[in-house]
Amino acid sequence: MATPTTSADLSAATPPVILAFATQKGGMGKTTLSVLVASWLHYKRRIPVAILDVDASQLSVYNLRLRETEQMDEETKKRFNEMNLDPYPVERGEPADVPNMLRHVPADIRFVFIDLPGNIDIDGYEQALGMVDYLLVPMETSEFSVTTGFNYLNAIRQIDLLPADRCRIVWNKFKESRDAELADQLSERFREYGFESMKSRIPQRDSYQDAANRSTMFPMPIQYLRHSGLKDLFVEIESLSLIPQQDEQPN
Ligand SMILES: Nc1ncnc2c1ncn2[C@@H]1O[C@H](COP(=O)(O)OP(=O)(O)O)[C@@H](O)[C@H]1O
Ligand SMILES: [Mg+2]
Repeated sequence: MATPTTSADLSAATPPVILAFATQKGGMGKTTLSVLVASWLHYKRRIPVAILDVDASQLSVYNLRLRETEQMDEETKKRFNEMNLDPYPVERGEPADVPNMLRHVPADIRFVFIDLPGNIDIDGYEQALGMVDYLLVPMETSEFSVTTGFNYLNAIRQIDLLPADRCRIVWNKFKESRDAELADQLSERFREYGFESMKSRIPQRDSYQDAANRSTMFPMPIQYLRHSGLKDLFVEIESLSLIPQQDEQPN
């Protein structure tokens, strides 16, 4: 997206990739995955990111950032300063504000994550989604979750906001022994409808509830990454920036 607004901006050739982990159901991991991926790319890979928190009834990311900055003890401050990096911007707003918020994202930002409400009927939702390059839909293999996710993807397709090849299913809260076969079958069915799944699957882990593993100021600790599937997700998402983005629509 990102239309250059001044001649100086014209030199910033690459607009950021706009991503949203989104679905119509709450509790699927939208916020958790946004924070984990954004923090990894920013603090570990040193790729500038921003989060737009427009899930206005919760403001989970915005409030998390506030808590984290207000409650930093000396030890944490020291650890943070050692990274020698500014924290990434976390802006709050309503879905209708997204086009304008994106215009004000600093020019060096490479990825913008939008945390959307879990309700497609909210004012401005369509405008916000219309700005997205990739829609990442977290899903569990339960019938209810798959049905909700499928209906959501179809609703998006019907209003013609995003082509199916810009949507990806992310299997979350995944248990290999329970879900592997089913996720393969479901991925194949979704593919028949034109929707691909991310290769990485995110295991169910109680550790994601732990505040230290869900930070807007630090990357996920390395010891939690082993066998977590998250590292693969980080790499997969980073590689989305290599796919040519949509051309700007004239209007
Ligand atoms: N892979 C996972 N394993 C275990 N718990 C998870 C996982 N992903 C998310 N959760 C938990 O599920 C709950 C809902 O996640 P959240 O990101 O707030 O969902 P949403 O933003 O979609 O409403 C949180 O308590 C979170 O810690
Ligand atoms: Mg949320």
